[in-house]
Amino acid sequence: MAAELSGGGPGAPGIVVGPLDLAARVDEALAVQALAFGLGPEEIEVRRHIVLRHLDHPQARALGATTADGRLVGFVYGMPNDRAQWWSTVVEPCLRATGTEGWLDDSFVITELHVHPDHQQHGIGRTLITTVTDAVALPRSILSAIDTESPARGLYRALGYRDLARQVHFPSAPKPYAVMGAPLPLRRAGAIDFRPPLPPG
Ligand SMILES: CC(C)(COP(=O)(O)OP(=O)(O)OC[C@H]1O[C@@H](n2cnc3c(N)ncnc32)[C@H](O)[C@@H]1OP(=O)(O)O)[C@@H](O)C(=O)NCCC(=O)NCCS
Repeated sequence: MAAELSGGGPGAPGIVVGPLDLAARVDEALAVQALAFGLGPEEIEVRRHIVLRHLDHPQARALGATTADGRLVGFVYGMPNDRAQWWSTVVEPCLRATGTEGWLDDSFVITELHVHPDHQQHGIGRTLITTVTDAVALPRSILSAIDTESPARGLYRALGYRDLARQVHFPSAPKPYAVMGAPLPLRRAGAIDFRPPLPPG
């Protein structure tokens, strides 16, 4: 599946969102992440190994946003949560403390989502995350984001993600994270949310 973004503003025309061979293009993806999120050379090398290991998961899915001349300007990837994986083991006690631990089951984890700064705010991030989760046959999605008011947190809330736990500390990460969860399919722009608050998992 591939979708050309239209009507998203001056930066969006010609950008196509579609399947990404992330293993083959991991260096390009990490270059985007380095600019969007701020990664140093050592962190990039660490992330490289982590991404390639994640891609061993048979249900890992990745999408990329590319320009007409083939440059990668955004990507998303994720996979069904596995309670044995490091990320899940770190967040589990925090979710248990808020009564939302069940969100770790039957849930698609958004592991990374990044858009090149020159192409942000043109709908690319929204298209990447909604397209990747639309193809998932699970009832919900979870993720972690730095626990501060940021474009990422704004986007996730707009899509229906709510806080499951806050001030979650990952070893080696300097800042605390919020863990967020949303029912799938993700909420569409302009949709009014008549749903009751998220029940505990
Ligand atoms: C988060 C990120 C992926 C969003 O990508 P994007 O293509 O710029 O986002 P979109 O244009 O699709 O924006 C969709 C929504 O996100 C929110 N949003 C995006 N940029 C925002 C900003 N600067 N301030 C507040 N909200 C913002 C809005 O809700 C927006 O909806 P709207 O356009 O209807 O108002 C991008 O900002 C990014 O790469 N940030 C740095 C890396 C990062 O933090 N990644 C997430 C790690 S958890």
